[in-house]
Amino acid sequence: MAIEIREYRDTDRDEWMRVHAIILSISHAWNYSIQERPDYEGHQSTRLVAVEDGRIVGLLDAQYDNTPGDLCFLKDSPGGYVLEFGRLPEYKGRRIGSLLIDAAVEDARRKEFHRLEFWTQDRAAQRFYRRIGLPEIGRHYRFRIRPPQDITERMRRDAVGVEYLYCVCLPEEWPLVKQQYDVILKHPLEPHLCIGYERRF
Ligand SMILES: CC(C)(COP(=O)(O)OP(=O)(O)OC[C@H]1O[C@@H](n2cnc3c(N)ncnc32)[C@H](O)[C@@H]1OP(=O)(O)O)[C@@H](O)C(=O)NCCC(=O)NCCS
Repeated sequence: MAIEIREYRDTDRDEWMRVHAIILSISHAWNYSIQERPDYEGHQSTRLVAVEDGRIVGLLDAQYDNTPGDLCFLKDSPGGYVLEFGRLPEYKGRRIGSLLIDAAVEDARRKEFHRLEFWTQDRAAQRFYRRIGLPEIGRHYRFRIRPPQDITERMRRDAVGVEYLYCVCLPEEWPLVKQQYDVILKHPLEPHLCIGYERRF
């Protein structure tokens, strides 16, 4: 059965959420789970689904800068940030990722954007982006730490408890950060290296 890439429709919502939840459970693509379908209010967006035999098997959403850098990392021209992207695990080897990216590029062009950014903490996805030849545009660690005592005490004065702090650092700072802070290592809060890639067209 052939894979069709088409625009998302409002009637896809429940199925889209279920497919998203499955992809979320087998990847490190996202930092948190979502219970509502994002609508990207105030921005242009591309919302695509991959469909086989009437069933959604993959998805891709990109949201576009209003001014260069308000969403994207690179600021030389306005771009699209790919926020939701994946396909069901049983559809490995069907080129759904590539089909979705090609269709997203076409739609971005129609909207007069000329680049898309892809950021991911998922190591398999990082290999995929390298395999399809996307250049890297940046990398950083994302991690949680148990708060240092001065921060805990400072916030307790305002009756605010702190469970953990969600932090970012450059790879060259990471060895020192691990020495100096109480980094949470246990799943699902473990650290990840996040790498950004882009496609220009
Ligand atoms: C990332 C993802 C969308 C790729 O989709 P896909 O449908 O498997 O990709 P394709 O079939 O189009 O693969 C294109 C090429 O990349 C290769 N490839 C795919 N995944 C790869 C991996 N993990 N490592 C190395 N190469 C990989 C394919 O073998 C293929 O190579 P070929 O051109 O030599 O045949 C998919 O793995 C996925 O849904 N992952 C979970 C969610 C996720 O991490 N999303 C992205 C991060 S935000």
